[in-house]
Amino acid sequence: MSNSPVREIVPDVPVGLEKGLENYWYPIAQSEELGREEPLGVTVLDRELALWRDGNGDVRAVHGRCPHRNAELAIGRVLDGRLQCLFHGLRFDGNGRCALIPWEPEDSRLRDEISVPAYPAEDRGGYIWVYVGDAAAFPPPPLEDELPEELLDEENFVWFRFPTETWEANWLLTLDGQDAYHPVTLHAGSQSVAAAEGREVVPLAERRVKIVDTSYGIRAVATDREGKPIGQGHFTEVKGDRFILPCLSTNPLRPRTNLAPYVVRVWQMAIDAERTLVSRFASFRANGRAERERLEGFFHEVVKPRASQVSAEDALIAAAQGSLVDARANEFLFNVDQETVRLRRQIKDAFLAQREGRRTAVSREALVFPL
Ligand code: FES
Ligand SMILES: [Fe+2]
Repeated sequence: MSNSPVREIVPDVPVGLEKGLENYWYPIAQSEELGREEPLGVTVLDRELALWRDGNGDVRAVHGRCPHRNAELAIGRVLDGRLQCLFHGLRFDGNGRCALIPWEPEDSRLRDEISVPAYPAEDRGGYIWVYVGDAAAFPPPPLEDELPEELLDEENFVWFRFPTETWEANWLLTLDGQDAYHPVTLHAGSQSVAAAEGREVVPLAERRVKIVDTSYGIRAVATDREGKPIGQGHFTEVKGDRFILPCLSTNPLRPRTNLAPYVVRVWQMAIDAERTLVSRFASFRANGRAERERLEGFFHEVVKPRASQVSAEDALIAAAQGSLVDARANEFLFNVDQETVRLRRQIKDAFLAQREGRRTAVSREALVFPL
């Protein structure tokens, strides 16, 4: 918390925000990536973390550097449910307390003088969640208060995770890339109008774009030169919000009119000021085993290859805008960019509120399944 004047790197980016928005739960790894034997190192929001599983299999997370001589803790050993530094063997429990100094008596008071900051962590829905920030200043809400509806309801939904990706771009630029009118151009070959059924595909050079207003904000439709839509439709009955703090975007999709609609949820988290960790899953409404199996097949055959290509295009364009400062300093915005501007303000406002000691909660309504 600080009362000093806010300096901005570029408009709407106060100093510090380029490295992420702290004090939220982040899905920083997938459950299988963290076994019982070895710790795992992850950097998010410019913080190095060391993760491991304690004796109960519960996830533990601490700052990634040993307070003795700064050795990387993620290359240490998991012993007795605790994390032991590889160098001189200091051992830390899940609360970051020093549990052992190997050359001191077991009950040495010296242990109280050294500790490592710990972070709240949980394993849920196939992800390892860490509350990245200052839990003393901004007590974390229960994780389930800030999870998408479907991750809490295995009865009615099924979801499939994509491999986590690292993009070479600042996280705020990757979020700019969530604007809802680029798909018809950037993803012209992969997502939007690849297969306009029953019609000849209109060549790219002939295509134009029509902006439409929906309950879910603006969308774009590819048209021919005369303005006749050529792509698949967009959804009009959509609930929830496309963007949810700190960095979750929700995209309802339908590859072709006769195929099941689904939702792609994606978190774009800062690793540091230059790289972004991208975590995504696709989810469906589903009832019963047979339907789940059918959807699993559909995911692997249709959704995954398609979404992976779309993601590669998004990653390419995020990196292709240059640094955050260059991209933002050299932009010219149109009217259709107003949603992007709103999103930027929402993130900035949440960041500034924290400087005054207020944490912006995520509303449950924002996290409903949109279809
Ligand atoms: S650096 Fe970790 S125990 Fe010495
Ligand atoms: Fe995209």
